[in-house]
Amino acid sequence: MRIAILSASPSSGSRSAFVAEAVGGHLTMLGAKTTHLALSRLPVEAMVFRRDGDPAIERALSLVAAADGVVIVTPIYKASFSGLLKIFLDLLPQFGLARKTVLPLAVGGSLAHVLALDYGLRPVLQSMRAGHVARSHFVLDKDIACTIGPQGAIECDELLGVMGEFVAALPAGPAEERAPVMARAAS
Ligand SMILES: Cc1cc2nc3c(=O)[nH]c(=O)nc-3n(C[C@H](O)[C@H](O)[C@H](O)COP(=O)(O)O)c2cc1C
Repeated sequence: MRIAILSASPSSGSRSAFVAEAVGGHLTMLGAKTTHLALSRLPVEAMVFRRDGDPAIERALSLVAAADGVVIVTPIYKASFSGLLKIFLDLLPQFGLARKTVLPLAVGGSLAHVLALDYGLRPVLQSMRAGHVARSHFVLDKDIACTIGPQGAIECDELLGVMGEFVAALPAGPAEERAPVMARAAS
């Protein structure tokens, strides 16, 4: 199982990047091969102006293409997911999430926006033909309760349930064996 974990905050010291690290630790313990990509590390100009051939962006797009599952961890800004996330999703092919299981997670400051993932992000993921969008989860920033486990990994108990459901919903078979079907579907 290859899992791409995308964190989508532009801030340094990002809480959502911290949650993304925790997710990576949990999924690794469950046997997945995880890669955490902080979208803020990508070259902004090449992303915004969609400059072809930037090696960091090409690597990021390949990471998503090769993944069986994608975990998206976004901060909530202005009642929605971050603009950085939208810029990155817009770089992916129209059906760039086909046959992948996607887990949407958010870190926000107010429960008033707990539905932002399901009302705002879920339709975007569906439009990209995600194979399955798992139950989303909103983490209230002041309540992030994680501990450092015996092996140095970050452990967040509140994420265990959603991650278990995500792993159970991952597609069978490696992504590359499903790719020709994807290519046929897109052509
Ligand atoms: C510009 C800005 C707008 C925000 N808007 C909201 C909001 O509408 N709803 C909410 O629940 N939290 C909002 N927050 C709080 C952030 O979601 C919260 O601080 C979160 O932990 C930030 O994650 P990050 O550290 O990964 O960027 C906002 C924060 C900023 C900086």
